[in-house]
Amino acid sequence: MKFFLDTANLEQIKEAQSLGILDGVTTNPSLMAKEGIKGQENILKHYADICEIVDGDVSAEVLSTTYEEMIKEGEELSKINPQICVKLPCTIDGIKAVKYFSSRGIKTNCTLVFSVGQALLAAKAGATYVSPFVGRLDDISTDGIGLVAQIVDVYNTYGYQTQVLAASIRHTQHIIQCLEVGADVATCPLKAILGLINHPLTDKGLETFIKDAAKMV
Ligand code: G3P
Repeated sequence: MKFFLDTANLEQIKEAQSLGILDGVTTNPSLMAKEGIKGQENILKHYADICEIVDGDVSAEVLSTTYEEMIKEGEELSKINPQICVKLPCTIDGIKAVKYFSSRGIKTNCTLVFSVGQALLAAKAGATYVSPFVGRLDDISTDGIGLVAQIVDVYNTYGYQTQVLAASIRHTQHIIQCLEVGADVATCPLKAILGLINHPLTDKGLETFIKDAAKMV
């Protein structure tokens, strides 16, 4: 399973990249706004900066909602760097735009996916990634991981090439659950990834090894 970092924060991206386990980055307008990125020039520069740090795909979301505007915006985003993956909402216009870009060999991420029907349309339009939002489904007492599992199953049955990118991952256990159901990618906050390393027996064992190592010098 690939790890993407779900942030627009350059320091966190650098930190995850330095761990050597980062496969890509996803952003959205809320994450970009949180970093204070404003204006077209700064938006494009920020995506270029992210591409400089990370080796893999970088999802850059369109801000517009009509097909024509999404095409214009997506084309501009895709020119920044071949790593850019145009992120489009799962709406009628968004699906049309996914088809437009996928038929031109431009990578896409179909986002705000909350049902298997939406995931089917994204795959049929040729999306590179589909992003089911796990945490937001959990927030309304619905099984977010269950949706990821359902999409993985349907895509395997029909041989769709679209990769299942589990998004809205909120904690470490979500990552384990994504592994168990066969998600292709999990896009996570850095804290959730770092949580994977924690184990009290590792800490306790290391403490003993350090003490015993001191006896050997
Ligand atoms: O990738 C989408 C993600 O950023 C949404 O996460 O926590 O706002 O539901 P959240």
